[in-house]
Amino acid sequence: MTEKSARIAPYSGYYNRPQTAETSPFTATGPETPCGEYFRRFWHPFLMTSELGAEPKVVRILGEDLVLFRDRSGRLGLLHKNCIHRGASLEFGVIAECGIQCCYHGWHFDIDGTVLATPAESQDSKLSETFVQGAYAVREREGLIFAYLGPPELEPPFPIFDTTTFPDERQIVPFRIQYPCNWLQVVENACDPIHNVYLHAINSQQFAAAFAVSPVLDFIETPLGFLSMATRRVGNMVYTRSSDIIFPNVGQFIGGPTGPNAAKFNIAATLTRWVTPIDDGQCHYMGYFNLNRVTNPTGAIDPKTLGVGKLGLIGQTADRPYVERQREPGDYDALVSQGVIADRSNEHLGRTDRGIVMFRRLLARALREQQAGGTPALPRVYPHGNVPTYTHEISVTVDQDAAIGDDASLLAFGREAARVVIETDGLPHAEREAEAARRFQMPAPEFVS
Ligand code: FES
Ligand SMILES: [Fe+2]
Repeated sequence: MTEKSARIAPYSGYYNRPQTAETSPFTATGPETPCGEYFRRFWHPFLMTSELGAEPKVVRILGEDLVLFRDRSGRLGLLHKNCIHRGASLEFGVIAECGIQCCYHGWHFDIDGTVLATPAESQDSKLSETFVQGAYAVREREGLIFAYLGPPELEPPFPIFDTTTFPDERQIVPFRIQYPCNWLQVVENACDPIHNVYLHAINSQQFAAAFAVSPVLDFIETPLGFLSMATRRVGNMVYTRSSDIIFPNVGQFIGGPTGPNAAKFNIAATLTRWVTPIDDGQCHYMGYFNLNRVTNPTGAIDPKTLGVGKLGLIGQTADRPYVERQREPGDYDALVSQGVIADRSNEHLGRTDRGIVMFRRLLARALREQQAGGTPALPRVYPHGNVPTYTHEISVTVDQDAAIGDDASLLAFGREAARVVIETDGLPHAEREAEAARRFQMPAPEFVS
């Protein structure tokens, strides 16, 4: 028996034991790792505003231990955890009108790390001019706190994704849950729309029943990354759901609970989320729900089910009995069970994994660009105004006996929608949706025969 035939024979566990795992170049995000340096070119949320009280708070971001606090004048400071004098933790610091004072010998730091005073030293001490406490830039928006951990001279504009700015009547609800696994498997889950047909069909609580219908998959590059697309024929509707994969760690989603419930073309996101590495073995899954008449037409998404440790969807946390998780597993169970750091060297990828392959290919390209000393091309920077994004869903009604439904016609339908969404990204949102709707008022002739 050859080695190959032994491996594909029945009962060949012996010959198929996992090999020693190789370390992925993408999973490490600590200081001075290639991916860690890439992550340090972007703003990342790491805490909800509601989680920061009057005391300093220890946080860990990209493997760095830090202390966050709000000084008495209301400004946020994010400093290296251990004091540069002799290492006491600033979590025990005394918050001042301006900055924070180390508890041990009173060194006083401003929010940018400047040493304001070293009170035990002599008047002519030059210590405060010679050193600074490590500090990072912090921003707060809509109930989330973000940090930028890269070189200050390369700080990018703070991204405000268009999806969080319309319509006028909206409720932006922040949330944060935590996954005890590496960031990459959580992001790759969004590049894998076929799992909706299997994992999410085990229960009917997260996705509309239409998602159990097998779709054609497509992955189309955008200026921010790519669209992870699934198009399906459900009865007399053709429906495409396209999620934004924004490099390196943002995802946007729409349409899960509703699916093809009516003819529609929405360029919007129910949910914008970041996967922020805490370190290589745990990450935050956090962001915003934008609840409005399009994303939450029946009010089924209850803001009270969103917040710290709450995502309002089944299977996103470990807070159910184990046996229930076994019977109705969710994303949390699938992802965390891949391992703290999923072993990619023993994978067997198929055609439905094209989104995973695309993500890794684009990530490798971004790391190469960065290591060559350049600014990574992804995502494109929008220095002024909001960042246009591409998340959308479209459903059209077709004749019951229309031929559309084979892979080629579904693929063409989804591609045309994606093309319209990408081509109109310079328009203000209302005009963009109007233009998209105009082009799809009737199914284009090439889609229906
Ligand atoms: S250890 Fe912080 S002031 Fe001495
Ligand atoms: Fe999922």
